[in-house]
Amino acid sequence: MQSNSSDSLNSLALLKKQLNSQGVHSFEAIAEALYQQKQRQSQAGLYSQDRFTQTGSDCEAVVISPSTGESVNCILWCINHYLGLNRNPRVIDRAREAIAQFGTGCGTSALSGGMSALHKAVEARLAQLVGKERAILFPTGYTTNLGVLSALPGKHDFLLFDREAHASIIDGVKLSGRKFSSFRHNSIDDLERKLRRYREQYDNIIVIVESAYSMSGDLAPLKEIVSLKQTYDFHLYVDEAHTFGLYGKDGAGYCQELGITDSVDFIMSTLSKATASIGGFIACKAKYIPLLEWCANSFIFQASLTPGDAATILAALDELADRPSLRTQLHAKNAYMRQKLLSIGFNLGNSQSPIVPIFIPDPEKLLQFNKELFERGIFSVSIVYPAVKPAEGRLRFILNASHTYEQIDRTLDALAHLGKKYGLISPKTSSREWLSLAPSQIALAS
Ligand SMILES: Cc1ncc(COP(=O)(O)O)c(C=O)c1O
Repeated sequence: MQSNSSDSLNSLALLKKQLNSQGVHSFEAIAEALYQQKQRQSQAGLYSQDRFTQTGSDCEAVVISPSTGESVNCILWCINHYLGLNRNPRVIDRAREAIAQFGTGCGTSALSGGMSALHKAVEARLAQLVGKERAILFPTGYTTNLGVLSALPGKHDFLLFDREAHASIIDGVKLSGRKFSSFRHNSIDDLERKLRRYREQYDNIIVIVESAYSMSGDLAPLKEIVSLKQTYDFHLYVDEAHTFGLYGKDGAGYCQELGITDSVDFIMSTLSKATASIGGFIACKAKYIPLLEWCANSFIFQASLTPGDAATILAALDELADRPSLRTQLHAKNAYMRQKLLSIGFNLGNSQSPIVPIFIPDPEKLLQFNKELFERGIFSVSIVYPAVKPAEGRLRFILNASHTYEQIDRTLDALAHLGKKYGLISPKTSSREWLSLAPSQIALAS
C-alpha cells in the first residue's frame, strides 16, 4: 500500500485518509498499515509522539524515546503550562491537602452528587474572574466545547466558526446536528460575507473563535469581530484556552485585555494549561446555565473533576492574583525568543502569543530536524496532520514563565545551527550575531 519512501514519513492520520481515498476502509487493513508506518518511523528514529518524561513535565527533564531507546536530558517546549504553576510549592501543597480532606475522586457527575464545596468555589471564582454571572465546570476543555456547542443551538440556529478552530469546537458543532459553516482563518471580510449570507435565514447565529490559535500562535481580531455584532446581531463564543491566565490585568484572558468581556456571550477555557490542572469551564449569563446543565451530555454523563484538580485550580487562581509578575516574565521571554528567532531568519508566520511555531512544510526535513534537535537536548513535538494541514507541518515552542534565559539561549543556539544545516534560514545570518543582544534589551525593545 505504501507507494514511495516519502509516504513513509506521512503522519499516521494522513495515511488513514489516503487509504480511505483509495477505497480501503476495513479497520483491520488500516490498523495494520498504520502499525507498519509507525514501525518504519520508529526504526528511523523519526517518531517523536511516543516520547515521555521520566518525572513529569517541567522546563527541563529526562525524556525517554521508546523507539530509539534514547534517554536524553532535554529542555521541554511542548507543554502548555505557561506559568509553571504545576511545579509551584503552594499549588502542590493545596492539592495534597485537598486529597487528604476530600479524597481522591468524586465518583460521579456534577448533577448526581459529584460536586464538593471545592468545585463550587472554583465555579464562583472563575465567573468572578472572567466577569460573567455564572461559570460551570466540565471535566476537560475538550468536553466543555463538545458539550456546550452540541447542546446550545436549536433547529433554527446556525454555527459559524474559524477554519483553524480546535477539534473540540468542530466536533461539538458537528455533534449538535445543526447547520454550520466556517470562515477563513482570522478573516473579518470572510466572516462578514458569511454573516450577510446567513443572518436572515436563522433565528440565532453563534460565531465561535479562539482568542489565540493553538497551532499558529496568532491572536484573533476580537475587537473587529465584536464590532460586527451591531450590524449582524449574533452571539459570540470565545475559547480562551491559550490566553486565560496569560492576558488581561487580572489574568482573566484576552477578552479582559481588550475590554470586550461584556460583548462576548460565552467565554470558555480549559484549566489544563495556565492553571496546571485539568478541566474546562464555560462562563456566561445565568439564564443559559440550566440549558447547558441539562442538555450537554458531557456535563450530565461524565464524572466531575477530582478534588485535587479543583484545589489545584483554586491555588493557581490565587497565584494569578498575587503574582502578576508571572505574566510579565512570560511575555518578556516570548518577546526575547521571538525577536531572536526572527533575527536568525526563521519564519514564525503571524504568531504573537507564547506559542512560537517554526514552519517546516517538507515532512522529511521536519522529522529529521526534530530528531537532531532531540539529540541536542531540545524536546519539541512535530506538529503534523490532523493538527494542521498536510503541507503545513511545523515545530511548536511553547514558552513558560519558568524557562530560563539560559535555556532559551541553548535552544536558540541549536535552532540556529540546524536551521542553517537544513536550509531554513538565510546562510548570511551568523549564529553569533543574535546572541549579542541581552534578554533585558529585547524585553525593553518589545
Ligand atoms: C483551543 C483549545 N480548546 C480546547 C482544548 C481542549 O482542552 P483540554 O486539552 O484541556 O481538554 C485545547 C487543547 O489543547 C485547545 O487548544
